Amino acid sequence: MVSRVIPVDSFDLVIFGGTGDLARRKILPGLFRRFIAGQMPADARIIGAARSDMDDAAYRAMVEAAIAEFGGQESKDTKTLQAFLERLHYVAIDATGKGGWTQLAAMMRDSVIRAFYFSVAPSLFADLAQRLHQHKIADRESRIVVEKPFGRDLDSARALNEGLAAHFDERQIYRIDHYLGKETVQNLMAVRFGNVLFEPLWNNHYVDHIQITVAETVGVGGRGSYYDKSGAMRDMVQNHLMQLLCLIAMEPPALFGADAVRDEKLKVIRALQPVEPENIVRGQYEAGEDGPDYATDAENPRSTTESFVAMQVEIANWRWAGVPFYLRTGKRMKARSSEIAVVFQDLGHSIFKGDKARHRNMLSIRLQPNEGMDLQVTIKEPGPGGMRLIDVPLDMTFADALGPDAEAVPDAYERLIMDVIRGDQTLFMRGDEVEAAWAWTDPIIHDWETRGDVPKPYEPGSAGPEEAAILMHRDGRRWRDIKG
Ligand code: BG6
Repeated sequence: MVSRVIPVDSFDLVIFGGTGDLARRKILPGLFRRFIAGQMPADARIIGAARSDMDDAAYRAMVEAAIAEFGGQESKDTKTLQAFLERLHYVAIDATGKGGWTQLAAMMRDSVIRAFYFSVAPSLFADLAQRLHQHKIADRESRIVVEKPFGRDLDSARALNEGLAAHFDERQIYRIDHYLGKETVQNLMAVRFGNVLFEPLWNNHYVDHIQITVAETVGVGGRGSYYDKSGAMRDMVQNHLMQLLCLIAMEPPALFGADAVRDEKLKVIRALQPVEPENIVRGQYEAGEDGPDYATDAENPRSTTESFVAMQVEIANWRWAGVPFYLRTGKRMKARSSEIAVVFQDLGHSIFKGDKARHRNMLSIRLQPNEGMDLQVTIKEPGPGGMRLIDVPLDMTFADALGPDAEAVPDAYERLIMDVIRGDQTLFMRGDEVEAAWAWTDPIIHDWETRGDVPKPYEPGSAGPEEAAILMHRDGRRWRDIKG
């Protein structure tokens, strides 16, 4: 497989929060990898903006260290690294005051794309938008990029949208959900809409249920103060799992374009039914051999925040009425594994009378790690003795199928930043989508808060609390095993 890298147009990218964790871990190493790949034009520039006083040289040294730590093998090529570092500049800026804005305005070049990455607390979004406008740093073609958490409920999300909309059009706003930048997440659309095989079966006539699992082995240690105010519902379900659900359930858009895709996703969110308490299980991890319990990690001994959630949701439309979608996500689980499984219905009639086992086709899409798909099919068990049937996977691991280049797929952030420069919003969340997702999530969280719901404890290294298994057992179904 030959990878095709199409260079983007030249740009000035300003990263507010340019010395922060996300910038050091993801954004800057990602840009470096795009530079190595030849996608970033030689004269593109990156301007770090943050509160601390430093000059270009100090910023470059900081970025060099970040690349050494998070940038992978490529950083061994010193010549390329130096060429990349020369693209970097720095300006000390006061996001809520006056300092630095005239310097920044003077640094921006005409006739290149201007993009502004708000890698800062959401409370600063409106201030930054206002100052970019006031100092005429942003123009009608400029783009701004914002990150989650995009609000913590519908009201706060609306306020953020309004703060941005005061100075920017929706077509200029890029809300990142990094799951949409993952190669296999995009593959969901390729598989559904690029093959004739699946789409005819993709409905309540053939599908029994769908499972979406995003399991992590890490705990919340180190970011407990953020996480404890958020929990799995706000941190993962409202955004990442919701996006996966949309891509798996949406109607085929007329074309692969920003509004066509986002219109269809929005319809899915709007068709989501309210979730009754008996269809949700919240969990919190206990202490294990290799780590403390959630409350210790979160530095809140009385915390009732969930580090795990499993739920059964319904989409009320013609395609999906009656098909349960089971969603689960959690920290400190058995393995790091994100997977979507489409479990098809039983055969209406079997001609193999001697075979009493239940056979089902199932398409499982592994998002990470070990990206790929497998399709479970039923075949004859080899050998004499009549027609005994067994289920076997038709396994396609993308790395095997696509060869060595499959390893070189860009990380989610790299891909998304390049889409910002290209002006392609397809893989970004629109304001109304985010608000609709909160409108569905809010009553669930509100119900927990008013009832003082306490999450069920679960063992680290497990598949979550027993009650999550019961959620499916009661319907005669079971979760897929979580395998890394
Ligand atoms: C982030 C969440 O958005 O996604 C984290 O805030 C979570 O809690 C992370 O660990 C998971 O992302 P990935 O790419 O590692 O699956």
